[in-house]
Amino acid sequence: MVLPPMASELAGPNGEVTDELLVHYMLRSSCVGLVVVEHSYISPEGKYSPKQLGIWHNDLIDGLSRLSNIIKRNGAIAVIQLNHAGGRADPRVCNCRPIAPSQILVPNGFEVPREMVDEDFETVLKSFREAAVRAVKAGFDGVEVHGAHGFLLNQFLSPITNRRSDRFGGTLEGRMRFPLMVVEEVRKSVGSKLLMYRLGADDMMSGGFTVDEAVRVAVKLVDIGVDIIDVSGGLCGGRPPELQGIQGYFIHLAEKIKKHVEVPVIGVGGIKDPYFADELIVEGRVDLVAVGRAHLVNPQWCCEALKAITTYTNP
Ligand SMILES: Cc1cc2nc3c(=O)[nH]c(=O)nc-3n(C[C@H](O)[C@H](O)[C@H](O)COP(=O)(O)O)c2cc1C
Repeated sequence: MVLPPMASELAGPNGEVTDELLVHYMLRSSCVGLVVVEHSYISPEGKYSPKQLGIWHNDLIDGLSRLSNIIKRNGAIAVIQLNHAGGRADPRVCNCRPIAPSQILVPNGFEVPREMVDEDFETVLKSFREAAVRAVKAGFDGVEVHGAHGFLLNQFLSPITNRRSDRFGGTLEGRMRFPLMVVEEVRKSVGSKLLMYRLGADDMMSGGFTVDEAVRVAVKLVDIGVDIIDVSGGLCGGRPPELQGIQGYFIHLAEKIKKHVEVPVIGVGGIKDPYFADELIVEGRVDLVAVGRAHLVNPQWCCEALKAITTYTNP
């Protein structure tokens, strides 16, 4: 069982870990095997919301160490999600003109972004690299690179938001080039720690990124050292309104990717029923099941689920 990354909006104004945030994770990390801490901004230009958790500065390492400690003391593996919002950054929050692969309004973006030039690529790579080093210094067991939900790396993969004609655009090979470069940098920074990638596997939009392309990206990600593929939605976001009410609404994407890679694959989407979650594993459809909102509503969801399943299979 995985606690997937969920922005709590409990951090301080500069992205600091707060006591409220520690309590939030302390309550929700017992019983789950893996906690992926919410998306944390790797640089001020990549900040998405006012109370977003940050990993952009060395001064934040002490607070992050307290966070990783709490999760690990509860017995879970602690991973932190690294994110750059790209064209989805809010100009009032990042105090900047957001950057993106192309000068095109990103779905759910606030303003038409500025197209990235050579030095932006260097800056973003450096920010990812340094953020990953901070995660290790803060005692995390690994990091997850955020490549879903319409944020920067997802903007590169999607033909809707990436209209570049240079080596970072065009064919799938071009569109995946920068996300792969980020992963290579992050791998170097984290050494043998866990490296996960949240892959937005379907834009669910006409002319958008598709699961067939996602399969090819996943294979490449694994080739260059990703340990776990965490499958979610692309430009459509993690909770498309039209799919709400369907239990396991993104499982089919994870299942398809799982057929093509040798590493564990996480499935997610509207899961509330422990027996449904258990069956996904028993039937081998996915390797790990993430349960998000049910944990927000009931922090004890996983402990109760394990008890229910054990009683059912071993009365
Ligand atoms: C309040 C909230 C914040 C979220 N923040 C993130 C995030 O920081 N990073 C991410 O990849 N997904 C985020 N998600 C998506 C979840 O990780 C998850 O994929 C989604 O909620 C579907 O799972 P569920 O139906 O079990 O909640 C968020 C979801 C919610 C409800």
